[in-house]
Amino acid sequence: MRNKIIAGNWKMNLTKSAALNLLNAFQNTDINSEKMDVSLFAPAVYLDALKANSKGKVNIGAQNFFYEKSGAFTGEISFSHLMDLGIDQVLIGHSERRMIFGETNEMLRAKLDTALANNFKVFFCCGEPESVRDANQQNEYVENQLKESLLHIDSEQLKNVVVAYEPVWAIGTGKTASNEQANDMHIFIRELVGKTFGKEAAEKIQILYGGSCNAANAKGLFSMSDIDGGLIGGASLKEDDFIAIMKAAV
Ligand code: PGA
Repeated sequence: MRNKIIAGNWKMNLTKSAALNLLNAFQNTDINSEKMDVSLFAPAVYLDALKANSKGKVNIGAQNFFYEKSGAFTGEISFSHLMDLGIDQVLIGHSERRMIFGETNEMLRAKLDTALANNFKVFFCCGEPESVRDANQQNEYVENQLKESLLHIDSEQLKNVVVAYEPVWAIGTGKTASNEQANDMHIFIRELVGKTFGKEAAEKIQILYGGSCNAANAKGLFSMSDIDGGLIGGASLKEDDFIAIMKAAV
């Protein structure tokens, strides 16, 4: 049995005190941490304070980093900065990074290689835009994202990877993939992992759903055979909603 993971993606939101309040509320919630892991991907400027206040039940991760160690990269945050703060989880390939900041499959591959070489746990996001779903080409699209950025690693490295399937048309739109649409894609991704790394690796890899997952639809999604939890945007900013989603996972 795979453990569930509930991850919050706070994006470019919150103040420092609001972020610390949410962390406290989540880590004081009675959840069975044997069966579930919780991560919060926070704005970079708050990572230090969140890490210092984390009691270890909730992992603190970064939404972004650059793959060079140091140097003339004005405005960027290096993986070694994150390591200096004790941060060991990163999000890679979120569709907002791909679409607004122009991150290509090639760049994401470089980020992934750097993160894994430095022992980060990586949450790797993939997912198709609406036009691709309308043309029923989502499997080919996601396969290409994974082939170009993820499937070249070795099976040891794969143990530090969680995949998040986030159909772009469902992110922040209130339009969720149906339980079956999401699960079909998760099965497809698991099969791809199986073809490359073998059956055991495919059984083990955790695949999260993201895209307007909320307190009302979480339970249905998480009860599907191949959905191992969620990457939650909007609802992770609301204390009661995120707690309800955590509870829906166990
Ligand atoms: P959403 O965002 O839950 O607000 O749709 C999910 C994400 O972007 O990770």
